Amino acid sequence: MALLPIRKYGDPVLRAKAKPVEIFDESLATLAEDMIETMRDAEGIGLAAPQIGQSLCLIVVDMALIEEGKEAVAYVNPVIQERYGEKYTIEEGCLSIPGITENVTREQNIRLTYQDLAGNEHEEECSDTLARVIMHEVDHLLGVFFTDHLGSMRLRMLSKKLNALQFEAQKELIEFRKLGLA
Ligand code: NI
Repeated sequence: MALLPIRKYGDPVLRAKAKPVEIFDESLATLAEDMIETMRDAEGIGLAAPQIGQSLCLIVVDMALIEEGKEAVAYVNPVIQERYGEKYTIEEGCLSIPGITENVTREQNIRLTYQDLAGNEHEEECSDTLARVIMHEVDHLLGVFFTDHLGSMRLRMLSKKLNALQFEAQKELIEFRKLGLA
């Protein structure tokens, strides 16, 4: 198990479209375990592979924070097939955008298809917090941040902070590369 450095807003891997997972082997399971450890260490509720620099369709969600007695789950190649129910607004944050939380409006429910770490296919309906977290994480696989859902006025008010983050992310990336972490 290993903690992985979390990439920040401004790192190009976070704007790329992630590639589907095709090989379900031990290294995929290890990557998911490392992501779960990294997510918990950073006190996040979800994490997408691009956030640790892997452009792969893999997300993890800490179900333990959503429902007592549950464990963290890995969703491989998750696709939101349908979004339905009333939209509602709640504050979201992101481990790749530290220090910024904003109100985001999304649907209440989703129908999701995905594979588990063994490659078995699943279809699931999710609602409320779990649906919200999965929508946020699946966005990351498409190169989308929660800030992309904000209105232009909110974005303008955040632009200074986002530019500063972008600058930091680029400096960090150079460090990661020196250390062989990127
Ligand atoms: Ni995020």
